[in-house]
Amino acid sequence: MTTHEVLADELTKARQRTLRLVDFDDAEVRRQYDPLMSPLVWDLAHIGQQEEWWLLRGGNADRPGLLSPQVDQLYDAFTHSRASRGELPLLPPADARAYCDTVRGRALDVLEALPDDHPDAFTFAMVVSHENQHDETMLQALSLRSGAPLLDRGAALPPGRAGVAGTSVLVPAGEFVLGVDATTEPFSLDNERPAHVVDVPAFRIGRVPVTNGEWRGFIDDGGYREPRWWSAEGWAHCRQAALTAPLFWGDGALTGTRTRFGHVEDIPDDEPVQHITYFEAEAYAAWAGARLPTEVEWEKACAWDPATRSRRRYPWGASAPTAALANLGGDALRPAPVGAYPAAASAYGAEQMLGDMWEWTSSPLRPWPGFTPMVYENYSQPFFDGVTTGDYRVLRGGSWAVAPGILRPSFRNWDHPIRRQIFSGVRLAWDADV
Ligand code: AVJ
Ligand code: FE
Repeated sequence: MTTHEVLADELTKARQRTLRLVDFDDAEVRRQYDPLMSPLVWDLAHIGQQEEWWLLRGGNADRPGLLSPQVDQLYDAFTHSRASRGELPLLPPADARAYCDTVRGRALDVLEALPDDHPDAFTFAMVVSHENQHDETMLQALSLRSGAPLLDRGAALPPGRAGVAGTSVLVPAGEFVLGVDATTEPFSLDNERPAHVVDVPAFRIGRVPVTNGEWRGFIDDGGYREPRWWSAEGWAHCRQAALTAPLFWGDGALTGTRTRFGHVEDIPDDEPVQHITYFEAEAYAAWAGARLPTEVEWEKACAWDPATRSRRRYPWGASAPTAALANLGGDALRPAPVGAYPAAASAYGAEQMLGDMWEWTSSPLRPWPGFTPMVYENYSQPFFDGVTTGDYRVLRGGSWAVAPGILRPSFRNWDHPIRRQIFSGVRLAWDADV
């Protein structure tokens, strides 16, 4: 396939996914399930508005758009907080769908007219990433929705393996190449670049993520009532938000069930824990005699191959993700049990580095040296440490809700340390002296 065919295909797949996530009646898609999330119909029109802005208007406000300026600005994420979006005079669902469809038709015409290897191909890939990222956001909203389920229980996943939970692998000290360049990853986003050599002291990292069963040990040991495991900030949040278990467990810590996407389900012991804040991850790690990995350690454990002294495109090698290698794409609605993907181990033996759940790291979001913003200048830059008053930590590895086409070992996500409606979990790390 040519680059243009790949991009057209990715745009189409993303749109099919988006439309499935809003394939409900009007009242439903206008509903705001939680102040942390937008109504689905906001995400829908925002997807179209951003696509129009980058692909049809070239990010230039002087180029007339399809929407009136008053309507267009409703979809500016920096102007309207998520909590306020349910009160905005948003486009009705049918209009939002028609708008997205019109924009898409024109965007595909622009793509088709683009000469091969034109730099604008990147902007199309960026728009693909944006739409897929909002699809994950919509799944977060749907997971918070109360009432009878709208989505079924999710696609089947491979079985786990006994004996991997709680084990770790060694990553010996040494240099590796952190980040990527356009030459090898033309569709990498600005915050993943440029590639540069860093020296990393030896460390150990979990072979697999922390499981629900292990997390129950923390709860049963009084972890949520014991300030010594928590940072001062984390403990203040734990008390103020009255945290006692991961989100959705409810009193599941006692009953062994959780409720998400409207489904009541057992909490499988061998499934990676999901829906925890950074502060909970940090406290759990302290309780377990471990710490969180830095994002640099995480990326080395994921992508570096010490035998060839080069990066692998994916933890397991060069081949694209498949259902046998990683839990991605959004159909599973949950992480796979630990040990489900032995063939996907990284060079160091770490498994499930891509997919399943985002992994909190101890790192604030910072630019790599030599960072240059991409055409969407406000994608990363306003969120860098010290630029805004916002406090963010980096999450790595992608969740079950991430589209395989947009994910790379270098992909960086971020959120506030108090957030847990995101599909977030944790993998432990330890200092090592080899
Ligand atoms: C990279 C997931 C933190 O959702 O705020 C979507 C992605 N940026 N539209 C977010 C994003 C603009 C972003 N995250
Ligand atoms: Fe957006």
